[in-house]
Amino acid sequence: MFNAIKGFRDVLPGEVEKWQFVETKARKIFEDFGFSEIKIPIAEKTEVFTRSIGETTDIVEKEMYTFADRKGEFISLRPEATASVARAYIEHRLGENKRVAKFYCVGPMFRYERPQRGRYRQFYQMNVEALGTSDPVIDAELIAMLSHFFCEINITEIEFQINSLGCLDCRVRYREELGRFLADRSSGLCLDCQRRVQTNPLRTFDCKNVLCQEITSLAPKILEYICQMCSDNFEHVRNNLEELGVQYKTNPVLVRGLDYYTKTTFEVITERLGAQNTVAAGGRYDGLVKDLGGPNTPGFGFAIGLERLISLLPEDQNFLKPPNVFIASVGSSARAKALQLSNRFRVIGVKTEMDYDGKSLKSQMRWANKLNARFVVIIGDDELALGRVILRDMEGKEQEEVDLKRIIEEVKSRSQSCSD
Ligand code: HAM
Repeated sequence: MFNAIKGFRDVLPGEVEKWQFVETKARKIFEDFGFSEIKIPIAEKTEVFTRSIGETTDIVEKEMYTFADRKGEFISLRPEATASVARAYIEHRLGENKRVAKFYCVGPMFRYERPQRGRYRQFYQMNVEALGTSDPVIDAELIAMLSHFFCEINITEIEFQINSLGCLDCRVRYREELGRFLADRSSGLCLDCQRRVQTNPLRTFDCKNVLCQEITSLAPKILEYICQMCSDNFEHVRNNLEELGVQYKTNPVLVRGLDYYTKTTFEVITERLGAQNTVAAGGRYDGLVKDLGGPNTPGFGFAIGLERLISLLPEDQNFLKPPNVFIASVGSSARAKALQLSNRFRVIGVKTEMDYDGKSLKSQMRWANKLNARFVVIIGDDELALGRVILRDMEGKEQEEVDLKRIIEEVKSRSQSCSD
């Protein structure tokens, strides 16, 4: 017997309807906001990720699924989608008309992390990316769109936290300052963070070690080091968010785990998910397209973690659409008729179930009840000989004989009056 690989999971019927629900809502909202779907490959040349996410990030240092293909070229399963979208944007010259290019994509990502609740090795993201403008209006537009999405799917126990990481110049200055602060306290840091002080001091903020967190909580904050332009830019984003009615909190230690971010960064967190409390996250990445060899192109985007999002949906809400009709049959000609009738219902878009194993009528009725079918059509050989079937309303619990020729019309009109 085989089981799924550790950290990879099956999404079974019962849960999958929740995925369909959120995806359908998201697609509609993203498209209303002017985003088009883009489908990007599941693997890229490894360099696409190392150059964009950063050589000294946890993702690149220890979490990528990287292997040599049959010709010895290194490829990686995508640990995130933004780098791939930027690669596609450059490859297909999607910025040529100089308009803002707005994309969304949905699919699995792969990171070799230690699996636990809310953290998997294969997990799904919905990504939204807008490339081609540095106008802070787009930062607010996307954050407001995400806030609207959470509202639409009734998820309220969340908090938007935002910060600014400044431009590359601000970062150089801050990095030096932070590096000095941490070097003076190096003996209190874990071995990983001692190394990070030299390679990439900002990454010490991601450390889960309590002693490191105590030290970094006292570290200088990036907002105190950003230049006037970046500070004005951040002010604009915040004003726009306020005008759009988005509630948020400024979190001066929010640095994000990927190196490509500049200026606005944000996370959506919840207290309902334990340690893995970030449901969605993103920010501006004004240097990413250039770092991947493209023209100087600013960008802003975010990703929603689908497993985490879905676990926030109410447990008792049933997303599975019950069948409208169950066709129960007793006798061999009746069974043949049941197949024909099911097909006729199904091809006109009426969700229909039937019995496949010649079970007793009692057992078929129990099954129809369990499936929550709205109507049951009972076909017996005797009634069939007279061209009639029984139509049972499972809600009203009443039943009557109906002419077989009229059964489809009858169910349709009764279904209509139920939904009126
Ligand atoms: P990220 O913060 O690495 O950002 O991931 C975004 C979201 O994906 C997280 O907030 C979380 O909900 C989910 N996630 C990440 N890792 C896992 C995991 N191992 N298991 C389950 N869920 C996970 C990015 O990936 C950026 N590319 C987001 C972005 C788009 N920035 C700009 N555009």
